[in-house]
Amino acid sequence: MSWVAGKLAIIGWPVSHSRSPLIHNYWLAAQGLPPLYEAYPIDPKDDFRAALRGMADAGFVGANVTVPHKEAAFAAMDALSPAAQILGAVNTISFENGRLQGDNTDGDGFLAGLDAASQRGAPDGNWQNAPALVLGAGGAARAIIAALGRAGIDDIRLVNRTRDKAEALSGLAPHIAIGDWQDRAALADGCGLLVNTTSLGMTGQPPLEMPLDGLKSGALVSDIVYTPLHTPLLRAAQASGYIAVDGLGMLLHQAALSFEIWTGMRPHIDDKLRALLVTDLAEKD
Ligand code: ATR
Repeated sequence: MSWVAGKLAIIGWPVSHSRSPLIHNYWLAAQGLPPLYEAYPIDPKDDFRAALRGMADAGFVGANVTVPHKEAAFAAMDALSPAAQILGAVNTISFENGRLQGDNTDGDGFLAGLDAASQRGAPDGNWQNAPALVLGAGGAARAIIAALGRAGIDDIRLVNRTRDKAEALSGLAPHIAIGDWQDRAALADGCGLLVNTTSLGMTGQPPLEMPLDGLKSGALVSDIVYTPLHTPLLRAAQASGYIAVDGLGMLLHQAALSFEIWTGMRPHIDDKLRALLVTDLAEKD
């Protein structure tokens, strides 16, 4: 193994709820390594650059970044990958001898999760040859829209309750059409992919009202939240014969891409890891 094992972390505030330590330490254990990955809270009131320098001094070689630090991480990097540059946000930092390299694996992680689900659910599924409808215009939507553009989707429909926020994302991919939130059912017509990036359907939030009958047969329906894992949207999708893609897909695949950036090894996303996460979610949420 060429990787020189060092400490890894997820940076956020709060961050104790994060499942990233469970995931990465599972992969480290598979390599015969100790649990080097920890949750690392950084208070937004603190000096973020100074905190990163402190991590480098303490022997960290890599870190994931979550809310609310992805933009601060972007601003603190010495070098950025194209994906991070497009999004203006970093979710993966490599500490390279005092130099900070920033990447963003959220979008490619989302696509990898879709691919894995579509292979399981419908080997002949062709979501890439049909329009896609994305609901919501927050940070997750940015990464997903840019990734759908890279995947070659030439009809991306985007709606958000606050239309202006959707308009602001229209430069992220070549073929984005902005619609009104109340027109979302009509805009789903003929789509091979529906992605909910809003907080509707999360534990404690109202459900998402979204008729699915206009979708193409065999369409993928993706909810990026994983609390709960089986949202009302995903249950409705399954009941109508569509392929439901739960939030663990994006979570696991963005993690795998980060792990590969740091170690050079693409970790295996196996059923045992997924089962561990499902149990952990059931116990704590
Ligand atoms: P993230 O960065 O994880 O995507 P976010 O930035 O908080 O999260 O975005 C939340 C999304 O859920 C937004 O698109 C938000 O719509 P607005 O931009 O109009 O706020 C959407 N959302 C939250 N509550 C909603 C509701 N009751 N109805 C419709 N959309 C809602």
